Amino acid sequence: MIFRQLFDSVSSTYTYLIAGRSGGEALIIDPVLDKVERYIQLLAELDVKLVKAIDTHVHADHITGLGALRDRTRCITVMGRESGVDVVSMRVADGDKIEIAGLALETLYTPGHTDDSYSFLMDDRVFTGDTLLIRGTGRTDFQNGDPAASYDSIFNKLLKLPDDTLVYPAHDYKGDTVSTIGEEKAFNPRLQVQSVEEYVEIMNNLNLPDPKMMDVAVPANLQVGLSQDEIEARGWSLDCGAAREILDRPDHILVDLRDRGERERHGVIPGSAHVPYPDLEANLAPGGLLRQLAGSPGQRLVFYCAYGERSAMAVQAAQEAGLSTACHIKGGFDAWKKAGGPTEAGESAP
Ligand SMILES: [Fe+2]
Repeated sequence: MIFRQLFDSVSSTYTYLIAGRSGGEALIIDPVLDKVERYIQLLAELDVKLVKAIDTHVHADHITGLGALRDRTRCITVMGRESGVDVVSMRVADGDKIEIAGLALETLYTPGHTDDSYSFLMDDRVFTGDTLLIRGTGRTDFQNGDPAASYDSIFNKLLKLPDDTLVYPAHDYKGDTVSTIGEEKAFNPRLQVQSVEEYVEIMNNLNLPDPKMMDVAVPANLQVGLSQDEIEARGWSLDCGAAREILDRPDHILVDLRDRGERERHGVIPGSAHVPYPDLEANLAPGGLLRQLAGSPGQRLVFYCAYGERSAMAVQAAQEAGLSTACHIKGGFDAWKKAGGPTEAGESAP
């Protein structure tokens, strides 16, 4: 495994770059916009391909690198389902798995610092965002923060992990880089409380100033979505009504780009093929399956995903590969369901 902890000294943010192996797929947790060039360089140096960029929550102290990384690498952007961002490619909930080749993160919903805060467990380590810091905990006084929820997330979820689990937070202001659950149980001053009331009392009396960047960062971080308008203006977009009319038409190949887990949880559009977004490039390359299918005259590729972001990027990639009839369903499966489009159960595990 490749594991890199990167630091942004302006916001004291830790960013984690993780890959299964050299030459394989990578994911990044809590990237900072100002550091995107560095990440791109490091990805090249380590010879890994970024496929997923994840934010643990909407940050108030720095602008996220999610949108820039998506635009540069066509990776999938991931946040929790509670996040009020305009569009991310994939939304996760408690218990979901975030997979790339060679590794998986388990999603833990840990609200309290914000109502959209998640932690991610990977084998011997947990990425705690701002929920649990080293010898501290994330403040709970803005962005729908809730000290009682923070207590519950920490005491009833994170501290239930084995004591030797490594704790990698999203920030540290003193220079510490990693801790363990056992160490935090014993030495974190905020956790030496006898009751939720005692913890709430501490958190409600921190009297911290607002983060310097808050007025800039929060609005910017709520607008990370890829604009699907340009795709539409070029005629590469179907609304749900138009998409319903092509169901069952043999000259249209409907392709679901979501991960297997998303299909199992949310269902699929009947009659669609499954090509997970990370496999798209190989499928569009000469000799690839989609290229062969769509290469016959009169055939049209219709991509869809969860919200239309991955499929918009897929349309661009297919057009670049010379498949000039490729299009997508605007707004994805989410819009399809809201419009009352028919669905069926996704496959269970292979
Ligand atoms: Fe935060």
